[in-house]
Amino acid sequence: MAHSVVLIRGDGIGPEIAEVTRRVLDATGVEFDWDVVDAGAAVMEKEGTPLPDSVLQKIRAQKVALKAPIATPVGTGFRSVNVALRQELELYACVRPCRTLPGIKTPFKDIDLVIVRENTEDLYAGIEFQRGAADTQELVQFIKSKQPKAALSGDVGISIKPISVEGTRRIVRFAFEYARTHGRRKVTAVHKANIMKFSDGLFLEVAHDVAKEYLDVEFSARIVDDMCMQLVKYPAQYDVLVLPNLYGDIISDLAAGMIGGLGVAPGANIGSKGAVFEATHGTAPDIAGLNKANPLALILSGVMMLHHLGEHDAARRVHSAVLSVLDEGKFVTADLRDDPKAPGAVGTREMGQAIIDRLVHA
Ligand code: NAI
Repeated sequence: MAHSVVLIRGDGIGPEIAEVTRRVLDATGVEFDWDVVDAGAAVMEKEGTPLPDSVLQKIRAQKVALKAPIATPVGTGFRSVNVALRQELELYACVRPCRTLPGIKTPFKDIDLVIVRENTEDLYAGIEFQRGAADTQELVQFIKSKQPKAALSGDVGISIKPISVEGTRRIVRFAFEYARTHGRRKVTAVHKANIMKFSDGLFLEVAHDVAKEYLDVEFSARIVDDMCMQLVKYPAQYDVLVLPNLYGDIISDLAAGMIGGLGVAPGANIGSKGAVFEATHGTAPDIAGLNKANPLALILSGVMMLHHLGEHDAARRVHSAVLSVLDEGKFVTADLRDDPKAPGAVGTREMGQAIIDRLVHA
């Protein structure tokens, strides 16, 4: 039976990389019933919102979407379509595998990390108090009552960091389940519990608790600043990392940088009601429509989607075809070359075709 997948074409380079990715996935022989939709700036003018209800309803119905990058319209009251999608569909886990790729220049060798970031809580919950507002003043008085010596004036903005037992248990279990099903050896919880005892302290305590349910997977914990240093010095000692929202956001970009940047980093946002697979880079308006965009991150997100759909053989075949094209280094976009300005780079479509050729002839 064909897999029904919503394909969000996105803005900027989105439609180009979405089309190439769709062609690569179709070339595996796996049957897809693509429901192609637009979101973002492309529909803002027509529908008055960058994320029409019809798109959300389709993802709710099909439960799986492949999403190209979407521009966040400025000054519309929309914080971000990406954040809205995560909240509306309760996509609580953001998964970013970062594995060294052949032919891509980076000082780091043999990186093989999976970052599991909690997507719904923490400082990203959007509970903020504007400086000067009446409720901010009340909070300032409360803080002063606890810490009379705090150098806190009324002229202050405040963000609240909620971290719950339920939310933490859910994300840590997700990380352990991921480790089990993907044959990974270790989960490391990342926190700052020494300073934020009630929020990160809770995260750490719950992580230790959940770890007892998974004695077949090794567990460790690291303070976030130490984690950054450890990742740069001893990356091979780490495997799956599980983090609250803010640290997860930062460390997933750090890990992406270690394998060559956001242009090669795939990602997925997963919840109990659905999953959205997406490249981690933006819409690259500077090269939109020029057949210059690197389609790799979205294609590798497609590989993650194939695994999610149970199409493991097809996933492995696409992954090997990508590695073969990168290893050869002939059919790659300009951003992947040592000198992006030197002649010889190919376009988005040509790189996609090279991957398809290796897939078909594998
Ligand atoms: P960006 O990632 O779009 O671009 C940064 C630089 O990287 C640019 O020079 C661009 O040409 C290059 N680049 C990005 N992806 C590339 C690719 N696949 N191949 C070759 N070069 C690539 O980040 P920027 O400029 O900060 O954001 C542009 C727009 O994208 C904004 O509207 C932003 O809101 C949106 N955005 C959307 C995301 C999503 O939908 N997940 C994530 C990040 C940004």
